[in-house]
Amino acid sequence: MIKKCLFPAAGYGTRFLPATKAMPKEMLPILTKPLIQYGVEEAMNAGCHVMAVITGRGKRAITDHFDISYELEHQIKNSSKEVLLKEIRHIIATCTFTYTRQNEMKGLGDAILKGNVLVGEQDPFAVILADDLCVNPEGDGVLRQMIDLYNKYKCCIVAIMEVPNDEVHKYGVIEGNELENGVFMVSNMVEKPSSDKAPSNLAIIGRYILTPDIFTVIQKTKPGKNGELQITDALCEQAKKGMVIAYKFQGKRFDCGSVEGFVEATNYFYDLQKSATTS
Ligand code: UTP
Repeated sequence: MIKKCLFPAAGYGTRFLPATKAMPKEMLPILTKPLIQYGVEEAMNAGCHVMAVITGRGKRAITDHFDISYELEHQIKNSSKEVLLKEIRHIIATCTFTYTRQNEMKGLGDAILKGNVLVGEQDPFAVILADDLCVNPEGDGVLRQMIDLYNKYKCCIVAIMEVPNDEVHKYGVIEGNELENGVFMVSNMVEKPSSDKAPSNLAIIGRYILTPDIFTVIQKTKPGKNGELQITDALCEQAKKGMVIAYKFQGKRFDCGSVEGFVEATNYFYDLQKSATTS
């Protein structure tokens, strides 16, 4: 049973400067909802109710967002605005939030390692990078799909998508054999390869199911690309033992860590909202 979801949210978000100088990237809104709330809702819909957040300096807005604001509650009580807090109130009432800080931004692998204290040693857990916003209008959310797959294969799962060859250098890229439609047994993984060195165009996006033995593997992993501790390098060790599945998820993913993806997501959700109100 996967009940805990880790949200590494300690990164600097330099692509969004100056907006992210004093505000966490994860709090940037798509319409009226911050990115991390979309991620938390996806995790809830997948059956998780413990949200473990890796924060850092300047990220206190995240903690405040997932807490009651008594002053605001008092101010809008019985007004037409109350409805705007319905979803966040439900999240606060249903989920437990735990936090720890990553003091130095040494990479995603290091951020996940810091989460060990929050998710423990016993159970598999999910990881969502909130700046990768995923939706599936046709059915189950991406994390739900991955948990279903975990229940079948009982090993680490990474979500992948096909990307153009000239974009592989932005991602971790997998090599593997297709076991069933869209499901690959991973044999190798490379972090941000140049297009001539990439083993495929199947890129890892910000959704993972990890088994707790990953923490020992990360501890033994040396800093990789850009001198950062890369989760891709740790997972590559697991993949060599046949313990990683890559899954071409159903749905859409917006790279909201980039301005272009952020605008795309905004337009998508705006159109969705407009068509819902006019129909
Ligand atoms: P990114 O690669 O998007 O980095 O991290 P970033 O620092 O957030 O953004 P840019 O590139 O400077 O614009 C992917 C995810 O991993 C987290 C980030 O918060 C983001 O959710 N992360 C990354 C950490 O928590 N700690 C790190 O040391 C690095």
